[in-house]
Amino acid sequence: MSEQSHGETSRLTIDYRNSMADAVGPEHGVSDAMLDEIAPRVAAGHARLVAEHEAGGQSWMDLPSDTALVADINAFAAEARQHYKDFILIGIGGSSLGAIATVQALAHPFRNVQAKETRGGPRFFVLDNPDPEKVAATLAIVDLEQTLVNVVTKSGQTAETMANFLAARQALESAVGTEQARRQIVATTDPKEGLLRALADQEGYRTFPVPPGVDGRMTVLSAVGLLPAALCGCDIEGLLAGARAMRSRTASGDVRENPAYLLAALCILANTRLGKSMLVTMPYSDALFGLTDWFRQLWAESLGKRLSLDNAEVFTGQTPIKALGAIDQHSQIQLYTEGPNDKLISLIAVGEYRDHVTVEDVPAGIPELDYLQGAELGQLLQREQLATAWALTEAQRPNFTIGVPAIDAAMLGELFYLYELQTVMGGALLNVNPFGQPGVEAGKNATYALMGRRGYETLKDEVLAKSGDDDRYRVGGG
Ligand code: PA5
Repeated sequence: MSEQSHGETSRLTIDYRNSMADAVGPEHGVSDAMLDEIAPRVAAGHARLVAEHEAGGQSWMDLPSDTALVADINAFAAEARQHYKDFILIGIGGSSLGAIATVQALAHPFRNVQAKETRGGPRFFVLDNPDPEKVAATLAIVDLEQTLVNVVTKSGQTAETMANFLAARQALESAVGTEQARRQIVATTDPKEGLLRALADQEGYRTFPVPPGVDGRMTVLSAVGLLPAALCGCDIEGLLAGARAMRSRTASGDVRENPAYLLAALCILANTRLGKSMLVTMPYSDALFGLTDWFRQLWAESLGKRLSLDNAEVFTGQTPIKALGAIDQHSQIQLYTEGPNDKLISLIAVGEYRDHVTVEDVPAGIPELDYLQGAELGQLLQREQLATAWALTEAQRPNFTIGVPAIDAAMLGELFYLYELQTVMGGALLNVNPFGQPGVEAGKNATYALMGRRGYETLKDEVLAKSGDDDRYRVGGG
């Protein structure tokens, strides 16, 4: 079956019995009574969401249907994949994490060292952190004459992105000249507003839109995530088909029927009623580790809020943690199993890995290794996931398992949409606005001030006044 044909039916499963009181005890598990109690709030949140969507808001929900955009991106990407040897994505937070997650999930794990024909497109580099060592190394390793730069910023002004971009732009200009450099830049930004929009118009870059009215962390299914994914040869139609499948599956306002609302309810109940202030996401798949990074930002920035919708100080949020199975069984599980019982743990199980490795030759004379004779590594990982779920449950640590029959574009699309809706419902249940990030803006503005941006002079004085040295609390440094 092709990805597209199966993409329209949701295949994801959720097994949440280990997060229930029956499995881990009433002190740590959600009860059926709690789910019954929260059900009307979920239904009310759903009704509000539907009404807002019908009134033209919540436009992140429409992204999976933008087939015109997909056609545009695919046309651009098909040509660019042929033409360019290297591709640098420049963006940070919501402007890069979705693309990184997608390429990590869908492309070959060593894509950059594959032969170009097998790879199906340019090598892929990301400049998110303005770390001079990484930026210098990236600009030195790419072939600037054959490099496409995609700069992505919704606001069009984020300091890290603009600084990295200006560094890349000057490297391109020195290598190929001003006019050619401009042809090698594609900007993804607001269609009308912002500094990058102005620069793109001035210098004539090809542009793609960041949809207005959609927060950065919800833009993975727009040009922000889709363009880099298509440039790396990922099936973006499959991705959107999967998201549509999840959108259809999550049409109900019933907490037990709608998987996104069920997860939101479990997480928020665990957080607010059972003291689980942390949410660990632990896929048993290297390919899905980038997804946990993307989700970590989504859950943290959306729900970590000082003010409620009624403007009361609430300081809400559940700290998202990323872990990787089975590696973190040898690093974190000791803490999760025997440390403070303050976490809800979400395991992601893969039904069928895309490759198989079987141990065919266990050396004779070491009977303790016989159990590995004929063992398949995917099966080992699957059993480790089951074993971890069991061990956590035995220790009364609430956990649930998201089942992913296979890792493909449609499944990833399902996961993106599921997590987005779960997060929006999380906001409704916590009575906070899941959109906006006032806590991030404060640091962004202080950075502008410290870097001497015009208009931020007063803030600069304020920041400096509180950043001066205080010998009482400093160790070392002369
Ligand atoms: O989710 C968000 O809105 C943020 O994390 C942004 O994506 C991040 O701060 C980058 O912003 P911008 O796209 O404006 O450069």
